[in-house]
Amino acid sequence: MYELVLVLFLAVGNVLGQVFPEETLNPRGIAGLNGYAFEDHVAPTADGEVLHLHRLPCSRGMMVPCGDPNKPVVLLQHGLFSSSIDFMENGPESPAFALADAGLDVWLANVRGNTFSPPKSWAYSFQEHATYDIPAMVNKMMNVTGAPSIYYIGYSQGTTMMFARLAEDPIFATKIRKFFALAPVVHVNTLKGAAAIFTNHNFAKEIKKRGSRPYLQKGSGISKTCKSDWQFCSAMMKSIVGPDSGRFNTSRARIYMSHFPAGSSTQNMAHWVQFMRSGIFRKYDWGPKGNIKRYGQSTPPIYDISQIRVPTHLYYSSVDPLALATDVEKLILPQKFIKSSKKYPTYNHADFLWGTTAPADVYLDIANVIKADDRRIPSILPPSSNLNVAKVPKPKRKPYNTRFSRMPMGRRS
Ligand SMILES: *[C@@H]1O[C@H](CO)[C@@H](O)[C@H](O)[C@H]1NC(C)=O
Ligand SMILES: *[C@@H]1O[C@H](CO)[C@@H](O)[C@H](O)[C@H]1NC(C)=O
Repeated sequence: MYELVLVLFLAVGNVLGQVFPEETLNPRGIAGLNGYAFEDHVAPTADGEVLHLHRLPCSRGMMVPCGDPNKPVVLLQHGLFSSSIDFMENGPESPAFALADAGLDVWLANVRGNTFSPPKSWAYSFQEHATYDIPAMVNKMMNVTGAPSIYYIGYSQGTTMMFARLAEDPIFATKIRKFFALAPVVHVNTLKGAAAIFTNHNFAKEIKKRGSRPYLQKGSGISKTCKSDWQFCSAMMKSIVGPDSGRFNTSRARIYMSHFPAGSSTQNMAHWVQFMRSGIFRKYDWGPKGNIKRYGQSTPPIYDISQIRVPTHLYYSSVDPLALATDVEKLILPQKFIKSSKKYPTYNHADFLWGTTAPADVYLDIANVIKADDRRIPSILPPSSNLNVAKVPKPKRKPYNTRFSRMPMGRRS
């Protein structure tokens, strides 16, 4: 669907001259190239998958003491067809590195089906990411760090899966200290632009015939198609992710294209198409019979986000055709659990990930919110920029020493 066409656009990078080491490096290699320590952690899910979490435990240049066990712990969750590596592709000015330098213990998610978390079964959608993948990763982080709760930053589909999880699991919700939702998506049937054309593809029929399969894995042939027709790619890009805001660094497109798309499943595509057609945020639709068998009712259960209690901060754009401002403002912003919102006038959907100004505009703002919430982070952050910040009174909180108190390993999860 939409990110598919983003792929087309990005492929133009392959015809550009400069070659980057990041094109062939893995996340550990890119972290090392930029001067960051890197850890790979394995998170087993309750349904038998194995996910790989990537961790940047230190800042560059050790401005913040490395290995400080009291650092706030943050999970950075990628979007559709993406992976941990996409947060590290702009050199030192990458979101993951900006957060590490801000003094956070940065963990990068990889949900099942992407390059770094190859699945045993392709029969999954964002429902399984919500039900199994998120809890598995959060539990692992809590287990390793001893933190009683974590901060979660989700982008695009990475917000969708957390809204779903929080809507139906108040016990899990106690593990999420704050939720930062970038380009948040809980409604898609008013999608503007070319993304709408994907609603016509019958993934469900394919699945019935052949079962769920990999979709847009790494090295997808689409990039080649694009090289021969750049004008098409460029036009589609604008139609899908929104107008070019001047934040997309075309000279680095080779790097992005080397790692994106990182894969999903046809069942996930089918679930997104169901979502687009119904406009209802709910579980996978197996048809009346299948739904009764799985859910005990003829229609899929709805994810009711009004049930959410986790303090949430929104980052969205006036011109993002995938996370429409009108949807965000009608469906998410009025909810009681929203603590602040920042609306960016010119960001397109991709700018929240690869935009050259995103670390300063978005990610350091998040770090500042975390810093205000947890004063033990050393003060090395620049002051927050003042972009339409809606100030909402801070929630009451427990004293610092109990919130991040260490507990013996193995007690939780
Ligand atoms: C774009 O990427 C090139 C190549 O890495 C880099 O030299 C340049 O500084 C980047 N531009 C911006 C605005 O970040
Ligand atoms: C949590 O940590 C304990 C002790 O290190 C370990 O025995 C246990 O398997 C871990 N659990 C998970 C889910 O990683």
